[in-house]
Amino acid sequence: MVKFRELILVSGALIALSGVGSFFTAAAQNDASAATNIIQKDEVAKALTDMSLVATGQRSFVKCMACHMVGEKAQRRVGPPLNGVVGRAAGINEGFPYSPGMKKVTADNLVWSVETLDAFLAKPREVIPGTTMGFVGIPKAGERKALIAYLASFNTDGSRIEELPE
Ligand code: HEC
Repeated sequence: MVKFRELILVSGALIALSGVGSFFTAAAQNDASAATNIIQKDEVAKALTDMSLVATGQRSFVKCMACHMVGEKAQRRVGPPLNGVVGRAAGINEGFPYSPGMKKVTADNLVWSVETLDAFLAKPREVIPGTTMGFVGIPKAGERKALIAYLASFNTDGSRIEELPE
């Protein structure tokens, strides 16, 4: 996403010759994702225990598409892009104007595990009071499960995980 024309690696220290400001943000992001990688793997595996749900989840994602994108060309809409969201910290899409409610749960270190995502998608406003996500929620547990499996099938860079069913 952020491109640096000149980047030199000197004995573990990174020196960016251009775009210094954004470089440090990118470095901080990498650290954050390294720290959340372990949980991400577990959570993605958990969400994908039944791969046959991915296609069902994709159909359900139509409900989210007015506001969210996934995939390699995903960009911000009304809501942040959701690549790699399963297993990562909540509210960390750079530059996205999250609500104060979301900022609070981010400060409290909320992680989007299968369980927290499930609760949020059932009743967004109960998990994040004051959220600007204008969506009523998905009452059916099976539909939420499929949707979470679909979301888990995207890597952070928007590519699909391997071993997806045809
Ligand atoms: C009307 C627009 C809208 C719809 C529809 C919508 N969302 Fe959102 N979503 C948002 C906004 C806006 C936010 C940021 C909320 C905030 O800052 O409080 C958000 C935040 C999120 C987050 C947290 C993202 C993060 O960076 O931590 C997840 C996960 C999410 N939405 C999933 C979904 C899913 C799955 C659906 C479909 C079932 C959906 N949303 C439907 C607007 C929407």
